[in-house]
Amino acid sequence: MSLNVNGRTRRVDVTPQETLAHTLRYKLGLTGTKIGCNRGECGACTVTVDDVTNYACSTLTHSVKGRQVVTVEGLRAADGTLHAVQQAFIDELSPQCGFCTPGQIMSAVALLKTNPQPTREEARQALSGNLCRCGAYDHYLNGVMRASGQLS
Ligand code: FES
Ligand code: FES
Repeated sequence: MSLNVNGRTRRVDVTPQETLAHTLRYKLGLTGTKIGCNRGECGACTVTVDDVTNYACSTLTHSVKGRQVVTVEGLRAADGTLHAVQQAFIDELSPQCGFCTPGQIMSAVALLKTNPQPTREEARQALSGNLCRCGAYDHYLNGVMRASGQLS
């Protein structure tokens, strides 16, 4: 089948029950998408599909045919400039071990697309599906606020 991932059309063989997380990581080499729980609980596998967050571990690859999938690898500009959320997370030292970071980034990117100046509480809700075993929640929220220009 053809998949649209990070603005490119990718041809890939996919089994009927294959998850998007599996396809991205093991067939397309996009290992930024992490698999933690593999059952829709932790958010490590979060990607966007048509700008809406999805748990890739719980999404069948066949179901995203014809839709726009974006992973953390697809966020930086062609010249290498990081997305504002990525840069803000660096500036705020948001990641600890980093395992949950791609998912946190994708949730933040989706939030800011629809709500460019969220309150901290709105950001907290938007990222509530992304668990962090290091407990770096406040650092990620600081990053979201910085990316939205609400923190100098
Ligand atoms: S790996 Fe998908 S929600 Fe945990
Ligand atoms: S930074 Fe370690 S799991 Fe979130």
